[in-house]
Amino acid sequence: MKQQVEVKPRDGFTTGLGVIAATLGSAIGLGNIWKFPSLTGTNGGAAFLILYLACTLLVGLPVMISELSLGRRARANAVSTFQTLAPREPWWLVGASGALAAFLILAFYTEVAAWVFAYIFKAGLGALNSTSPVIISQAFTNLVSDPVQSLLWQWGVLIFIAVIIIAGVSKGIEATTKRLMPALFIILLVVIVRSVTLPGAGEGLSFLFRPDFSKVTWATVLVAMGLSFFKLSVGMGTMITYGSYFRSEQNIPWTAARVMLGDVLVSVLAGIAIFPAVFAFGFQPDAGASLLFITIPAVFSAMPLGQVFMVLFFILAAIAATGAMLSLLEVPVAFLSEKLAWSRLVSTTVTTVILVGFGSLAALSGSVLADFKPFGMTMFDLYDFTTSNILLPLGGLFICLFVGWRWARNEAVATLSNDGMLRNERIVRLFLGTVKFVTPVLVFVVLLNGLGVIKL
Ligand code: PHE
Repeated sequence: MKQQVEVKPRDGFTTGLGVIAATLGSAIGLGNIWKFPSLTGTNGGAAFLILYLACTLLVGLPVMISELSLGRRARANAVSTFQTLAPREPWWLVGASGALAAFLILAFYTEVAAWVFAYIFKAGLGALNSTSPVIISQAFTNLVSDPVQSLLWQWGVLIFIAVIIIAGVSKGIEATTKRLMPALFIILLVVIVRSVTLPGAGEGLSFLFRPDFSKVTWATVLVAMGLSFFKLSVGMGTMITYGSYFRSEQNIPWTAARVMLGDVLVSVLAGIAIFPAVFAFGFQPDAGASLLFITIPAVFSAMPLGQVFMVLFFILAAIAATGAMLSLLEVPVAFLSEKLAWSRLVSTTVTTVILVGFGSLAALSGSVLADFKPFGMTMFDLYDFTTSNILLPLGGLFICLFVGWRWARNEAVATLSNDGMLRNERIVRLFLGTVKFVTPVLVFVVLLNGLGVIKL
């Protein structure tokens, strides 16, 4: 008699819309708000956009399609995926390095998210109502340099994400992102209408879009390529893990393409929401933390009903950060619960407790640990540097090499075409050619540059 093994069905995304909401939710993150728009503005406007699209098509998107395919084929977490597809070979290390990267990204990303969440309340209470960047910068410094506030906000964010993750893939991640994504678009449109109807808004639009090809250098190409990795959440197992929850009938190349386009759209819209207002009130178009936490509150304070828009804006940023953090936390949680057969509750709790430890080192980088600088960087910067410049490109490189050179071609074709159901032979051929010969070479260059081995 055949032995009956009781297998609990694996949780996964239940609808096509759910797949898109969760995957797009991972791609859309703080990167769309504080990285993409200012990089576009300072690196040649429309010229940079064209460059970014090219880099995404040649690097980000192929790695994303590769990851989703591997995950869905193996239907397992990032580490087991490689163990299933290439047993007794060291490829599982790629998954393990991905899980580590997810962990380290979370350690500092949750701190930035913590500031965003704190700002929703501070803006709501009127603590940021000032058109003077000096005063707001003081408020920001007070937050960052206060160890208690930094830690508590970060732990709060971690618990918030953990609760959603414990609820599961369909009832937690999918249900949440399905609600948050439409809200994100609506808020974004409201802020855009406000921003572009301000007198003098045109200057911001021209900052963002005026093509200046003289700004495009090799260094810009590398920036665009690195950005495409971070933006599409690839190189660290997120998309392998999410791919493992995709429905069997989901068209992987088409889903990835839509997510990539949706993500670029949100980045461009975020730029349109931010820069017209920044220029209309005569502020400097900064980047990074100072744009988000100093310039933007000052800009909103200068407009009628500004406090309302300020609160809305930080809710928008918090939504963006939430989808990204969910996908990051899911990587180690899926790994622990499948490898050690722990329940989601236990895996998530253990991961969160360890994260509180690692994350606190980042949270305290602005206060008590400001002078603790292994390798010349604060822990916050060290986490950022190691993941963006080393682990993500390295992960991406090996994922491409695996799909292009190690994985049996017929397996890849079967996964990408849903066992021949989709008539997409040409797309599949184009993808496999790119992932074999083009993407690895480009990623290798990014990696060498990130490590400072070459300076283009
Ligand atoms: N894509 C996210 C952003 O733009 C960041 C992220 C990177 C999320 C890696 C998950 C994994 O902010």
